[in-house]
Amino acid sequence: MNTSTHSNSPSVEPLFEPLRIGSLTLPNRIVMAPMTRSFSPNGVPGENVAEYYSRRAKNQVGLIITEGTVIDHPAASGDANVPYFYGEAALKGWAKTVEAVHQAGGIIFPQLWHVGTERKVGSEPNPASLPVGPSGVTAQGEKVNEPLSITEIQLIVEAYATAAAEAKRIGFDGIEIHGAHGYLIDQFFWEGTNKRTDEYGGDMIKRTRFAVEIIEACRKAVGPDYPIVLRISQWKSTDYTAKLAATPELLAEFLAPLSAAGVDVFHCSTRRFWEPEFEGSDLNLAGWVKKLTGKPSITVGSVGLSNEFTSLFTEGKGASHANLDELLERLEKQEFDLVAVGRALLNDPEWVTKVREQRFNELGEFQAESLRKLY
Ligand SMILES: Cc1cc2nc3c(=O)[nH]c(=O)nc-3n(C[C@H](O)[C@H](O)[C@H](O)COP(=O)(O)O)c2cc1C
Repeated sequence: MNTSTHSNSPSVEPLFEPLRIGSLTLPNRIVMAPMTRSFSPNGVPGENVAEYYSRRAKNQVGLIITEGTVIDHPAASGDANVPYFYGEAALKGWAKTVEAVHQAGGIIFPQLWHVGTERKVGSEPNPASLPVGPSGVTAQGEKVNEPLSITEIQLIVEAYATAAAEAKRIGFDGIEIHGAHGYLIDQFFWEGTNKRTDEYGGDMIKRTRFAVEIIEACRKAVGPDYPIVLRISQWKSTDYTAKLAATPELLAEFLAPLSAAGVDVFHCSTRRFWEPEFEGSDLNLAGWVKKLTGKPSITVGSVGLSNEFTSLFTEGKGASHANLDELLERLEKQEFDLVAVGRALLNDPEWVTKVREQRFNELGEFQAESLRKLY
C-alpha cells in the first residue's frame, strides 16, 4: 500500500460519476460504510444521530448506509444503545434522520441487523432472551441455545420483511441487509455455525436458504424498484482468515441464489480493498462478485487509511492517512462500482468534499478516541 503524497496521482473524477440502481440515481460512488456507534439510548436514535448523518449528506456522501439497526426480535441486539428498527419511538427517530439527510440532499439506507449467537448471554436490551442461531452454537462451538425452530426462523424472516416495509414507509431510499461478519445470516452461511440437516443446512446452496427467504420477503414487501443491498464477507469477527468460499467456483455457487432472490447490489466487506481474493488474479472480493453476478458491487476496507479497522478492536490502534491511487485505478477499470468508506468518514464529515477538491493534505488520521464522539 502506497502512503506517499499525491503528486502525479490519478484523477478523482471516476469517484464523482453518477450511478443508477433501479429507480435511484446516486450522485457519486462514495458510500458511508455502516458503523455501529451506540449513541441511541434505549434503541432510539435522537437529534444527534440525525445531525451526524446529515453532516455527511451536506458533504456529498453519495450513499449513507446507517449503522446496524436491529429488527424486531428479542435476541437481535446485544447493546441497549444500538438503535432499534421497530417501535414508534425508534422509527420516529429514524424518520427524522431521513428527513434531515434528504433536506441536505443525501440518500440513505438503514442496515438491517440481527446478531445471532454473537449476542452475549444475559446482555441488554433483553437479558432474559437467549442468543439464537441456526444450530444454537457460537463460532467457537459453544452451545448457547437449541437450534432455531422452523417457526422461529419464519418469524425472523417476517421481521426482516416488516423492517424493509417500514424503511420504505418512513422514507429511506433503499435497504442494506447485513449478511456479513459472523452475525445471524452469516451464521447460516458458515458451515462452522450451521450444522443443520434440514432444508436450512447442508451444502453451500442450502446454507443460503435463510438469506434467500429474507431477500425474497423483503423484495415482496418493498416492490420491484426499491434497492436492496446485501452485505457479505468471507471473514468473521471471530476469525479474520475464514473463507466462506475458497475458490471462485464456490463463490459463484454461493452468489447465484442470492442474486436470483433479488439483490440489486452486493456490498463486499474486506479489511483491505487492495488484497486479491484468490490466487492468480488481482481482483478483490468486490471485483469477483461483480464479475460472477453481473451486478454492481461495493468495495470497502482501509480506503484512505494506512491500516485495517480490526486493529482498532484488537489493539486500540488508529490509522494514518494513505493516498487513493490504487483505489482510483481499480475503479477506473470498473473492477467495482462503489467505494465504501468507514473510519475516514467517521472522523471527518467533510472527507468527500476534501477529496473532490483534492485537499488531500487536510485529510485527517483516525484515532481510537474518535469513537467517543459523533463528529
Ligand atoms: C466503529 C465501527 C463500527 C462498525 N460497525 C459495523 C456495523 O454495524 N455493520 C457492519 O456491517 N460493519 C461495521 N463496521 C465495519 C465497517 O462498515 C467497515 O467495513 C470497516 O470499518 C472497514 O472500512 P474502513 O477501513 O474504511 O474503516 C464497523 C467498523 C467500525 C470501525
